[in-house]
Amino acid sequence: MDVTTLIDAVARIKSEADELTHQEIIDRLSGPLAEFTTSTENQGFAEAYRPSGNYTRLLLNDPQEPYQIVLVFWGPGRGSPIHDHDDTIGAVSALTGETKEIKYIVTRCEGEHVKLTQGSEFTIAPGRVTPILPEDDKQLHLMINEERRWAATVHVYLTAIHRYRQYEPAPDGSFRTAETSLWFDECGVGRRMTRSARS
Ligand SMILES: [Fe+2]
Repeated sequence: MDVTTLIDAVARIKSEADELTHQEIIDRLSGPLAEFTTSTENQGFAEAYRPSGNYTRLLLNDPQEPYQIVLVFWGPGRGSPIHDHDDTIGAVSALTGETKEIKYIVTRCEGEHVKLTQGSEFTIAPGRVTPILPEDDKQLHLMINEERRWAATVHVYLTAIHRYRQYEPAPDGSFRTAETSLWFDECGVGRRMTRSARS
């Protein structure tokens, strides 16, 4: 599946989302995302891409669209802090390499401070999809590349994320929420991906 077909599939699921349960949305996102991430042509694009830093985030579709399809590059040993996804529904898989995902559950809120407990662990790899859901046990996670090679992951957010929260550990074992904005190193990268597949 090429990037244009993936973008079209996500646009269609977005337009039908009001009629679907959360699980139906995840089921419909998972098939195209697994096909996209197991395509050797798409993997070749990620292998050939030279990220500028140890963590690079590219928006594959256009920023004015109401959803986001994001390609993230993780250097060896690089990971994210625990974060939420501003209540969007989405799905994540890997195009190259693999990353570990750990879900977290909010057990108590006290103002800016929250208590978290560790939930399930998952290995994100090509064709293996993990859901992002607004439910309390499926919204927060961290990701880390524990391998010695680069990893590239693909994140579909059915509602575009602009602001989200990171959870920073406090000395007393709780976490402090810090609102942050989602930035991209580059947008509309899917168009370049299509051109390189043709050449
Ligand atoms: Fe995430």
